Amino acid sequence: MEARLQEAKDSIRDVVDFPKEGIVFKDITTMLKSEKHLNTLVETLYQQYKGKGITKVVGLESRGFILGTVLAYKLGAGFVPVRKPGKLPAPTYSEKYSLEYGEDEIFIHQDALTADDVVLLHDDLLATGGTAKASIDLLNRFHLKNVFVNFLVELDFLKGRNKLNTKYEVDSLFHF
Ligand code: PRP
Ligand code: ADE
Repeated sequence: MEARLQEAKDSIRDVVDFPKEGIVFKDITTMLKSEKHLNTLVETLYQQYKGKGITKVVGLESRGFILGTVLAYKLGAGFVPVRKPGKLPAPTYSEKYSLEYGEDEIFIHQDALTADDVVLLHDDLLATGGTAKASIDLLNRFHLKNVFVNFLVELDFLKGRNKLNTKYEVDSLFHF
């Protein structure tokens, strides 16, 4: 891995037993607070996804919003939030899922995307894959032209990628 990316990866902090005993939480705030690392992340992802015809970046609440909007801006695409319960005001589609540390449900506005869209689905982290699987199921309602799936971090040992079971290209910048 390129030195700048390795440095960014090394700046991710492990917090043991957060938010529950037995979980090693990958804290990306220690990486994002560095202007150098933030620049590396945005530029790397921009180079990876430019020229793919992406029309919308779909970001997952809440950590997927951080770089999701920046990438949308850089790619000349729009931004669509996937949100937790009770947040989106207009008619929605929803999917329930289980997390490494609990249960949740996610929502997207029914008019957020159309079949003409090419989507970059972005989140900070792939753990068990529950959130990402539910998100892909949400996106499938729109019969999109194409979808690219991107994570900053993938926890390989949790094998979340297997759960996604998708024809779409899935990529993570950092693997642990
Ligand atoms: C975290 C993370 C991913 C999800 C990954 O979100 O940002 O969205 O968990 O876990 P999974 O692969 O096991 O589904 P969280 O629900 O903690 O919300 P946050 O982004 O608001 O902190
Ligand atoms: N989301 C789910 N599992 C996580 C972990 N271990 N670290 C950070 N975010 C997470």
